Amino acid sequence: MAERYDVVVIGAGPGGYVAAIRAAQLGMKTACIDSRETAGGTCLNIGCIPSKALLQSSEKFAEAKNGLTEHGIKIDGANLDLAAMMARKDKVVTTLTRGVEFLFRKNKVEWIKGSARIAAPGRIGVTANGGASQEIEAKAIVIATGSESIPLPGLAIDEQRIVSSTGALALDRVPERMAVIGGGYIGLELGSVWSRLGSKVTVVEFLDRILPNMDRELGPALQRLLTRSGIAFKLATKVAGGELGNEAVTLQLEPAKGGERETLGADVVLVAIGRRPFANGLGLDEIGVVRDPAGRITVSENFETNMPGIYAIGDVIRGPMLAHKAEEEGIAAVERLAGQQTEIDYDAIPSVVYTWPEVAAVGKTEEELKAAGVEYRTGKFPFSANARARTNADTDGFVKVLADAATDRVLGVHIIGPDAGTMIAEAALAMEFGASAEDIARTCHAHPTLPEALKEAALAVAGRAIHI
Ligand code: FAD
Ligand code: NAI
Repeated sequence: MAERYDVVVIGAGPGGYVAAIRAAQLGMKTACIDSRETAGGTCLNIGCIPSKALLQSSEKFAEAKNGLTEHGIKIDGANLDLAAMMARKDKVVTTLTRGVEFLFRKNKVEWIKGSARIAAPGRIGVTANGGASQEIEAKAIVIATGSESIPLPGLAIDEQRIVSSTGALALDRVPERMAVIGGGYIGLELGSVWSRLGSKVTVVEFLDRILPNMDRELGPALQRLLTRSGIAFKLATKVAGGELGNEAVTLQLEPAKGGERETLGADVVLVAIGRRPFANGLGLDEIGVVRDPAGRITVSENFETNMPGIYAIGDVIRGPMLAHKAEEEGIAAVERLAGQQTEIDYDAIPSVVYTWPEVAAVGKTEEELKAAGVEYRTGKFPFSANARARTNADTDGFVKVLADAATDRVLGVHIIGPDAGTMIAEAALAMEFGASAEDIARTCHAHPTLPEALKEAALAVAGRAIHI
């Protein structure tokens, strides 16, 4: 007889594994299926975690090589041991993926390794990686199958010379020249890693600025700083084709609006032009689960698809493709299944680009507020006027607070600067609580700290910043 569960989650990424643990905590008999050998999905295995490990290591290398002289520290002959750096990254990944398996055991979530296919609402076929198959039953199925890289026609990924993020996280030598197609999260983070390790990196972006989905001031500000660190940019440029020679890859570049072509030679090309929802092999069309034209599974407020008892969360549905967004949805979906009224405030989901300096944002951009006809006030404060940034010798960047002109409620916070990714948590919390700019401004911040720049930007909304 088929094993019967209350909840079966397909996909053990940050959306799926968190949903499974929460469902088990709520007393539901739960299984989580994933075709990978290790839990954690894209994020832990080939995404957030390995990329942040390499960003951290490469930052330390760059600092040891030439970033400490200002502090009066001279290091002669800092050398790169790339194999050791990669081994540390792999160890971090293994520790964290095993940690998820430990949490499954602790919470009595059954962890099933294999590919899942939904035969009908309530019935799932699982083909184990060795080939054996079984059928299981579930009162509720949660699809959390994530996303995959979007390929660029004419440039087939071989993960050696033409790589996706997965290949770029595992190169066995530093390419002399790297071309990065796409000036978004992956292109800028992994472009930074290889640039710091010695590659001559050129970012080719189709639009007229990098980070095109963020507040208009952030992309150009980051571009100036990354250019200073040695990365070259070709904006408003498209890749018209590529040729694989014996040694190098030659890209044909063309202005996005059309015009004269130029070539760009590279030893490795990273294709990072976005990700798309992944639901291959689940049998969705056969059972009639509706998807939108972009391939995202359509869900209700309860994360239920058009088929009763089948739910979907994370990268495979609408909204930003971020691990913490997937986690919140995993929790909300199963809490709602258990009868709780869990809500997610999508305006308070932060996003962080882990370059140096970091870029972080929460809430609306100025462009979005203008388009919606919202009257707002802006408060801005540069890190060059923040005492801690001065003591740290990290003075690039600024904090920008956008607040409703009538109510002073914070509508968006945009930061480029040291530890922006950590600082944005305070802004997200403020927005969750419906804080005004004055609430942030009147909150006592320890001195000297970087978050004082947020307080000053909040003060600047009312034109009363103290330190500028
Ligand atoms: P995923 O993590 O993609 O997990 C889906 C899982 O489902 C996979 O393990 C897959 O094997 C499994 N699966 C699919 N189909 C089946 C099937 N039929 N049967 C069984 N199993 C199946 N986000 C951040 O917030 N911060 C970051 O710093 C960050 N860095 C990133 C860096 C890179 C290089 C990349 C590529 C992504 C990064 N992301 C980051 C995005 C983040 O990884 C995703 O938003 C997140 O993993 C989505 O979680 P998920 O649970 O929806 O899906
Ligand atoms: P992205 O959407 O962030 O950036 C893609 C960039 O490529 C855009 O700037 C776009 O204009 C450009 N582009 C698209 N087609 C192009 C073309 N043909 N030629 C040149 N440029 C082109 O996508 P990316 O970087 O691939 O990352 C995918 C997603 O993964 C992100 O959107 C994010 O959701 C997630 N991610 C999150 C991270 C984080 O939270 N720090 C880190 C890495 C990924």
